[in-house]
Amino acid sequence: MIRVTELIERKRDGGELSDGEVSELVLGFTRGDVPDYQMAAWCMAVYFCGLTGRETHALTDAMIRSGDTVDLGAALGRKVVDKHSTGGVGDKTSLAVGPIVAACGVPFGKMSGRGLSHSGGTLDKLESIPGFRVELSVDEFVSQVRDVGLAIVGQTADLVPADMKLYALRDVTATVEINPLIASSIMSKKIATGADAVVLDVKVGDGAHGKRTLDVARVLAEQMIDLGERAGCEVVCLLTDMDQPLGAAVGNALEIREAVDTIAGRGPADFTELVMDACAQLLALSDLGIDLAEGRRRAGAAVADGSATAAYERWIRAQGGDPDLSALPTAPLVREVLAPRDGVVSRLGALAVGIASLELGAGRRTKEDSIDHAVGIVCRVKRGAAVAKGDVLAQIHAADEASAVRAVDAVLAAYEIGEEPPPEHGILLDVIP
Ligand code: URA
Repeated sequence: MIRVTELIERKRDGGELSDGEVSELVLGFTRGDVPDYQMAAWCMAVYFCGLTGRETHALTDAMIRSGDTVDLGAALGRKVVDKHSTGGVGDKTSLAVGPIVAACGVPFGKMSGRGLSHSGGTLDKLESIPGFRVELSVDEFVSQVRDVGLAIVGQTADLVPADMKLYALRDVTATVEINPLIASSIMSKKIATGADAVVLDVKVGDGAHGKRTLDVARVLAEQMIDLGERAGCEVVCLLTDMDQPLGAAVGNALEIREAVDTIAGRGPADFTELVMDACAQLLALSDLGIDLAEGRRRAGAAVADGSATAAYERWIRAQGGDPDLSALPTAPLVREVLAPRDGVVSRLGALAVGIASLELGAGRRTKEDSIDHAVGIVCRVKRGAAVAKGDVLAQIHAADEASAVRAVDAVLAAYEIGEEPPPEHGILLDVIP
């Protein structure tokens, strides 16, 4: 029987836990034998002292063993691909990538997460859709990927329950931005659901957890590639810009609308670029036997001929949701953020926009908080755009006047308007391997 206090002390003092100790800690926490406050203290010790490679492997294995696993590839007799992001502001990529990849004939089965501190979560976004069920049984998950070609589910009491609990705890205890905890959280979900190949979107910049630099992103990418290799899962990491919000919309239902527009070919340029990059990588990794250029061509064709939109609608219906955009909740108030002077947007801070959205009610401050799916921010103007005094920079979708006023101030402060355009670069900063 482990003494949890001793494990917290050892980690706090820079020591290493054995595989068995990590496993007992994680499984004890999952069963409810180790209380939240002790696990939160251990995570904080990890925040300051890190985990060794061995501990990271043990943590990932324990999270996978905390529930059932599915060999989706074997069940379907196909190579199954998946994608995951390390978390960003306005990051609705999976919602667009899933239907496009499925429309190209490649099965896409994915386990997502909820919002994590200032970054939104795919499950919260999907729950904006009336009726949509994120909790499927393992059998339902497998049948849906087989029959519909696409399913996105949450961690459950059956599938990676340790990540479900730890994720919710990290969200509200300032213990999100730790590479080994992020790597094990993401890869445990990918491995437990039997993905054969995964594209990971590792965010870099102001809105990435911990304002991750390119160097830190490379370390995180290597950790996830290593965890994937041990489990026989191919991993490609895209390192992408998260200095400003992705696309225009930030907030759950608002992001669903933008993802649907993008699947239909009407998305914002930066978001469309990332979606197409991720689709091309996934199709090149799949069993279609095509290269990146052909993957990109097929993804573009699925958008242009409407088959991606049809795949989206089939998927949403299969999980009980109403795909009609008019069914999504809307906020009672919309207020505008206006440019205070003429100039060029030299910066739009992703973190500040993410926090402003969370404060509007789109994210959680405590584990028990519920989410307002209707609220959020639409950034009408992004980095590099020329503006005149009085132009609309952004729109705030709010539940009440007081929260709208606070968000207007916060989003205005996130915009920097200068004289010169900032140096231009695309959304994709690097690809590993
Ligand atoms: N996504 C996850 O699933 N886990 C993390 O820790 C961060 C992003």
